[in-house]
Amino acid sequence: MSDTPAPAASTIWGGRFAAGPDRIMEAINVSIDFDKRLYAQDIQGSQAHCRMLVAQKILSAEDGALIQGGLDRILAEIHAGSFVFRRDFEDIHMNVEARLADLIGDAAGRLHTARSRNDQVATDFRLWVRGAIDGLDGALKGLQAALIARAAEHAATVMPGFTHLQAAQPVTFGHHLLAYVEMIGRDRGRLTDARGRLNECPLGSAALAGTSFPIDRHATARDLGFDRPCANSLDGVSDRDFALEFMAASAICAVHLSRLAEELVIWTSAQFGFVRLSDAFTTGSSIMPQKRNPDAAELVRAKTGRVIGDLTALLVAMKGLPLAYSKDMQEDKEPVFEAADTMELAVAAMTGMIRDMTVETARMRAAAGAGFTTATDIADWCVRALGIPFRQAHHVAGRLVKLAEDKGCGLEDLSLAEMRVIEPRLTDEARAVLTVEHSVSSRTSFGGTAPVRVEEAAAAARQRWLGEGC
Ligand code: ARG
Repeated sequence: MSDTPAPAASTIWGGRFAAGPDRIMEAINVSIDFDKRLYAQDIQGSQAHCRMLVAQKILSAEDGALIQGGLDRILAEIHAGSFVFRRDFEDIHMNVEARLADLIGDAAGRLHTARSRNDQVATDFRLWVRGAIDGLDGALKGLQAALIARAAEHAATVMPGFTHLQAAQPVTFGHHLLAYVEMIGRDRGRLTDARGRLNECPLGSAALAGTSFPIDRHATARDLGFDRPCANSLDGVSDRDFALEFMAASAICAVHLSRLAEELVIWTSAQFGFVRLSDAFTTGSSIMPQKRNPDAAELVRAKTGRVIGDLTALLVAMKGLPLAYSKDMQEDKEPVFEAADTMELAVAAMTGMIRDMTVETARMRAAAGAGFTTATDIADWCVRALGIPFRQAHHVAGRLVKLAEDKGCGLEDLSLAEMRVIEPRLTDEARAVLTVEHSVSSRTSFGGTAPVRVEEAAAAARQRWLGEGC
């Protein structure tokens, strides 16, 4: 809190106030420290409103020109860093309006005709969130491009696939990476859906009830790139579901990033050694010279908590609010800004890690066969070649696993003679299905892990998500 004396009554609503706010009141009420990030949208919204007021002859062309020039100048001042954001003007809207009055005098006071801060802030914020959605979508597309490139490169690289984090069946690394491409594709779809619903313009809802001035809401909506004006003025000023949807889509996406981050942490461990992160995305230890810590992955994993928290904070802030505007809604901005900033950083870090990582194919290959991961393949062979029911085949494979385990070897190390003690009809062909290469290349079902399918899937993903080769 500052030590400056409490300000005099507001120049904006000072009409019925004799004194300024208590310092504590200012501290709890002020939003300029964070809502200054809305400056460009605020000026854009004001300029669209001003153009409409002139076109509707609510404002004279002369005043309109003065206002437009003043707003241009304010934008330039903010860009130049010379604009002074004042806490006693509370928020971005009043900071801009007060500066406009300094610059052009009384005409500044006409800009707020047929408008309220309630529809102004709802409009500004929708514009900002729309930009954030577009930015995040572009970043996620970049992450998909990195994943698809590495997947195509490793379409035939064999690794163990896991369930319960226990080696289950061999898969290809490309297949594994493409799973994340699908998840991120749905994240982008959620953002696109949210954008469609967001893209209606609250401006002209005024305080809550609309206005008696002959405004043209369709014109301002068009001017600001919205599809249409919000149909109901009460709804226009009082819902923040667009911000919630952005954060909900972000939170789900962050959970996807966190799972991939967790896998990087596992894969880069000495015990796994499947992946080596580049020096650029690794840190050392101040005491243990051998360490290469996957800090960026760990932080992507941890920052997911923030985004989930941001969504929760606004959900809780909104849940008890009667229509229409309540000041509680001023609390919408910080969570959204934090979620957007966090997502930007997390996606960039993940993209960098994926792009630069070294894939230790020999380690993956060796691990792929450990843990009897081709046991299902021999069971499948028995079903196909011997015509026995799968449950019975499962039993044969189980006994083979037990034998290999007792001998301390892999399934593929058993001799045919040894195998025939368990099932006399087994042949050399049956032994051949026990290699991990055979295992993955046999899984050619649509969406399966076979290298041919992965190559096709990478090409399809390029077309679907990156718009290439259409
Ligand atoms: N700073 C406010 C906000 O972010 C602007 C709207 C204020 N409206 C009001 N009636 N006090 O919500």
